[in-house]
Amino acid sequence: MIKLLVRALKGETLARPPFWLMRQAGRYLPEYRALRERAGGFLAFCYTPNLATEATLQPVTRFATDAAILFSDILVIPDALGAEVTFKQGDGPRIDPIRSAEQLSSLSLAGLEDRLSPVYEVVSRVSNELPEDVTLIGFAGAPWTVATYMVEGGSSKDFALTKSWAYKNESGFAALFDLLIEATSRHLVAQIRHGAEVVQIFDSWAGVLSAEMFERLCIAPTRQIVARVRAAAPGVPIIGFPRGAGINMVSYAQETGVDAVGLDTTVPLDWAVREIQTHCAVQGNLDPVLLRTGGSRMVTAIREILANLAKGPFVFNLGHGVLPDTPVENVALLANTVRNWSSA
Ligand code: CP3
Repeated sequence: MIKLLVRALKGETLARPPFWLMRQAGRYLPEYRALRERAGGFLAFCYTPNLATEATLQPVTRFATDAAILFSDILVIPDALGAEVTFKQGDGPRIDPIRSAEQLSSLSLAGLEDRLSPVYEVVSRVSNELPEDVTLIGFAGAPWTVATYMVEGGSSKDFALTKSWAYKNESGFAALFDLLIEATSRHLVAQIRHGAEVVQIFDSWAGVLSAEMFERLCIAPTRQIVARVRAAAPGVPIIGFPRGAGINMVSYAQETGVDAVGLDTTVPLDWAVREIQTHCAVQGNLDPVLLRTGGSRMVTAIREILANLAKGPFVFNLGHGVLPDTPVENVALLANTVRNWSSA
């Protein structure tokens, strides 16, 4: 039996499209908050297999999503490379910053898979415990998005330090990217070896790049990672999410080799049908704020997305992650609306 999500990502148009939600595990769920209390720090949570396994399964159990996404974070990569990552409640991530090619010597790929072995343990456990029709998604951050956190030392508004390094010292910045391309490819392949059936590459800050930088810092590294994953694991579908890429999304769909492109909230549906779905499957793109709002306004928007995108290969999702203050009953209503939808 080929699972719904895999069929859609491989290009099949389905009468009932599969659905899952970015950040479907998280603070909006009371059972997540209870688990989080027991875990201590956020990364300790990610690295504790029984807790992270339970967090991965919680939204599947509650909403019967068609996929589970591994409970982890994109910042486990810098953490495993040796740039210590901490999360302070309500304050986002903090990382020892890397701002020059010389500072790269403090990072190391040696033993990467060993350091991330608790994450792979979660993948194995979830893979064994998942209902048989539910797909397990592994993931990683794209090099550009992960680099922004590493260079800025945390979240940023203008990405000035990261961009100016990329403009001023192309070869030094390329050395950081080479390291991230290698680490990310190995991390995705290891997740697949442990049971991930699909992988998604999150480029959450792709939208702040100029067209020329988009080619160099989003498309080119993604293409390399896709090639590496394909060589090691042919047939495993890859979703790319270049958030905010706008019209650059067309070249992303054509040139990276991904099987599907995740559409962010801003993408017009008719444009996506013409410009993206003609190249590959699409995923998206309900505004997370509409999910928080709920009610008939949300249901209308969900049906509009389905009416447009489900005529081709399509996976229902949000345009970005679930917001922490989202009422749980709105997510239940979304799940019922998508599951009971029919094109007739
Ligand atoms: O989607 C899922 O349910 C799977 C798990 C997942 C998390 N983060 C858990 C998490 C995934 C796929 C991510 C990806 C991620 N992490 C991205 C890319 C997607 C996006 O949202 O753009 C980024 C940029 C990060 C980095 C990150 N992690 C930040 C900036 C923060 C702090 C902000 C926040 O929302 O708290 C995190 C923390 C984080 N990652 C939480 C969760 C559930 C919240 C931690 C908590 O419980 O306190």
